[in-house]
Amino acid sequence: MDAVSKRLSSHRACGKLILLGEHFVVHGAPALALPVASVGTVVSVYEQTAEGEPGGRVWAKGRSPGKGRTGACAKDEPARLRLPAAPSWSAEATALAEQLCDAAFARLGLAERSWQIAVEESVPVGSGLGSSAAYAVALIGALSEAAGQALSVDELRAHAHELERVTHGDPSGIDDTVVATERPIWFVRGREPLPLAAPAGLRLVLASTGEPRSTREAVARVRERRQHDLEGFSRLCDEAARVAAEGRAALEAAEWRRLGVALDRNHTLLQEIGVSTPSLDALVEAARRAGALGAKLTGAGGGGFSVALVDAASRDAVAAALRDAGAQTILHEETLFPL
Ligand code: MEV
Repeated sequence: MDAVSKRLSSHRACGKLILLGEHFVVHGAPALALPVASVGTVVSVYEQTAEGEPGGRVWAKGRSPGKGRTGACAKDEPARLRLPAAPSWSAEATALAEQLCDAAFARLGLAERSWQIAVEESVPVGSGLGSSAAYAVALIGALSEAAGQALSVDELRAHAHELERVTHGDPSGIDDTVVATERPIWFVRGREPLPLAAPAGLRLVLASTGEPRSTREAVARVRERRQHDLEGFSRLCDEAARVAAEGRAALEAAEWRRLGVALDRNHTLLQEIGVSTPSLDALVEAARRAGALGAKLTGAGGGGFSVALVDAASRDAVAAALRDAGAQTILHEETLFPL
């Protein structure tokens, strides 16, 4: 039986959607990302208060969509986080979550605290919607709040970025920035992000292939590709930068057809650097055939989500076509940005 615990803090972090520029942003091109408020990760910190429960006992709840479980570790185990095996939490992901938890305690100077950590998550894991950034931001936010250390958004971002480096090796920072700031952003690696206005009227349908994939591996493969052909990659990167700028101008002017062309062009560039898959291409094609104004993969690729730009007339047909093409999860624009 778990002892009754006092909750010290709770922090929710949202998911994210890269509309334009993923991968190329790692190599200096600009990218545009939006917070996705309808999915999120909540980390809560509890203090063990019942007698007879020695410090250091930690449990966690991992909730992937529709699947709730609870796990516990032995009283004398030093681990601060235990996530039960759940379909979307592989043994590897669980080990990583524990490692990040330790890293977060260490970064905040809290290594001696005997707190319990609970995680509830509705961001589909490893699918391009920012599950690792949401976990990092929620973890740092909840631990710092529990310790009474008020962090600015910039500090939250900086700590979360270090956790993202553990997860992804060489993250550009776009994921942790959009999740920590919860604002649409125009992002160039190493520069201050530029907040953009909330995208009123933007209608998107997101669809997942359900294929397992890894951002770390995808980023490493693109880096290798770049090493083999620096000049060719640099041309693609320049083109990606132009497409992102064109897409941003279209978004700000609410010129949806023009934005759709930018999404299509962006998908072709992502195909050229080898991060799309036949299943992602099938979703993108199905969306376009059903009347989407444009479509692309979103995030690191190799599986995960595609994003289609739709209008009121095409939305339902696009969602149905995506389902018919094998999409596992569909998210609509009304649920994405209750900003
Ligand atoms: C992953 O969500 C986005 C990538 O561009 C990696 C990064 O920017 O860190 C693929």
